[in-house]
Amino acid sequence: MSRPKVFVTRRIMPEALDLIAGAADLEVWPDDEPPSPAILREKAAGADAILTNIMDRVDAALLEAAPGLKVISQLAVGLDNVDVAEATRRGVPVGYTPGVLAKATADTAFALLLAAARRIGESERWVRNGHWDLAFHPLRWLGVDVHDKTLGIVGLGQIGLEMARRGQGFDMKLLYHSRTRHPDLEARYGLAYADLPTLLAESDFVSLHVPLTPETRHYIGAAELRRMKPTAVLVNAARGPVVDSRALYTALKEGWIYAAGLDVTDPEPIPADDPLLTLENVVIAPHIGSASVAARGAMCRLAARNLIAGLNGDPLERCANPEVYRRN
Ligand code: NAP
Ligand code: GLV
Repeated sequence: MSRPKVFVTRRIMPEALDLIAGAADLEVWPDDEPPSPAILREKAAGADAILTNIMDRVDAALLEAAPGLKVISQLAVGLDNVDVAEATRRGVPVGYTPGVLAKATADTAFALLLAAARRIGESERWVRNGHWDLAFHPLRWLGVDVHDKTLGIVGLGQIGLEMARRGQGFDMKLLYHSRTRHPDLEARYGLAYADLPTLLAESDFVSLHVPLTPETRHYIGAAELRRMKPTAVLVNAARGPVVDSRALYTALKEGWIYAAGLDVTDPEPIPADDPLLTLENVVIAPHIGSASVAARGAMCRLAARNLIAGLNGDPLERCANPEVYRRN
């Protein structure tokens, strides 16, 4: 019997490729740049399974061109690049990698929060550029405190909750706004629920952890930024388009808010002439939220296991559309 064919859209951890190679014939896209949409469609058309990431567009046209797909395995928790509804309509399970990256991503988000509050990026650039002329000055490089302040978490899912736990360690007061209220977590972690306007007005740090959906595109725009304190810091480790980046530029430039820490931008990569890059009060990382050796290893292995389960017709370990199994 011929072995199933799998297309993996980028090089990933070898142990995950070994797992897949044990079950299927494997083609791995060798370039660092993603395959073009036309190439991805062509590769998917000849495959039984594809392993994708956030830069690959898995849309209705691709699914139409690839009727043989038994599973789509996404190496990420965010699925805004995948038309999950269309996959469900076609009975194709979509695997993803929640949980295993939550702590690593919250670590990154908290690092950006600290860096923006205490001006780490700006002062490090200053040192490297040879400006450290005066050893110490009582009035230089003053930032804002993190400890004992109020952290507002928008989207209390797995990463949002990890962010709350990190805030606890800094003796922060915790507010959250999320689609679903969680009285159990409120009691356990000392979290207080707030509507979004109240959270924005009362928080010293606002950290975004919602998925990118039609409802959350530009969730934070000019009106929301205007509600924040002039001493507040915005952190976005969710998706770039959750924030209106033009409004954010104005807010940072005109002092509506104090600073921002971004792991994600709109678009990605951020163009070299993006006005945000002219500002000192923004720290920008190139979407490295889950980029620890351990987290990426766990993501790759989980994505491989999801893919193999799908090829075998077994339920996926982590499936974004389990309703495919409830169809007649
Ligand atoms: P999650 O566990 O699904 O949490 C998302 C939370 O957002 C859920 O609590 C959800 O509410 C809430 N939510 C959804 N829509 C909302 C809305 N319109 N208004 C308010 N709350 C809303 O996901 P996660 O693992 O924490 O990941 C969150 C996002 O982070 C991902 O979707 C991805 O885009 C991003 N991410 C980024 C990186 C990075 O490298 N920077 C890494 C991983 C993930 P319900 O409980 O009602 O569903
Ligand atoms: C990364 O951004 C993810 O969604 O896992």
